[in-house]
Amino acid sequence: MEYEIVKFSIDDYDSMIKVWELAGLPSKPLGRDSRDSISTQMDNDPGMFRCCMMDGQMVGVVIGSTDGRRGYINRLAVVPKHRNKGIAKALLDSIEEYLDSLGLGIITVLIEDESEGSMKLFKARGYHFHEDIHYLSKRESPDV
Ligand SMILES: CC(C)(COP(=O)(O)OP(=O)(O)OC[C@H]1O[C@@H](n2cnc3c(N)ncnc32)[C@H](O)[C@@H]1OP(=O)(O)O)[C@@H](O)C(=O)NCCC(=O)NCCS
Repeated sequence: MEYEIVKFSIDDYDSMIKVWELAGLPSKPLGRDSRDSISTQMDNDPGMFRCCMMDGQMVGVVIGSTDGRRGYINRLAVVPKHRNKGIAKALLDSIEEYLDSLGLGIITVLIEDESEGSMKLFKARGYHFHEDIHYLSKRESPDV
């Protein structure tokens, strides 16, 4: 079945949430994944939002971001029904090309321990695993 990687807009917000739910990917719907927050992020840079469409349905998603120093890959997910068809790789090709075009020279991703599949995926794409780096965060609330 044919699929295509395209940019998406705030009109597709519910579809994006559905993909994450079907994929079992945790998100922050009251925080940085809320409709208002995503809308603001899209206003800042609409190029960061890429999805995979198949037969008029969203089946995969990825969000890029940057803090001005590094590029980041966020919330990569593909619905279980359409895994192992190269969709995650196609989404990463698309967002990496965009992040590379910004000239930052570095793309990073945070992966939770249990996500063995995504560890393999990113390592196979040349991402280096830093055993010596620990992720710390300071939050206004657990929802952000
Ligand atoms: C990880 C995920 C995005 C992969 O999506 P996908 O479309 O099935 O992946 P692709 O078909 O593009 O790529 C598969 C490649 O990734 C690796 N891979 C993906 N899932 C894997 C798994 N469960 N176990 C082992 N390797 C896996 C393989 O190396 C494979 O490479 P190959 O084609 O050379 O065999 C998908 O399983 C998913 O949505 N998981 C839940 C959410 C998640 O963990 N997201 C990542 C957050 S960083």
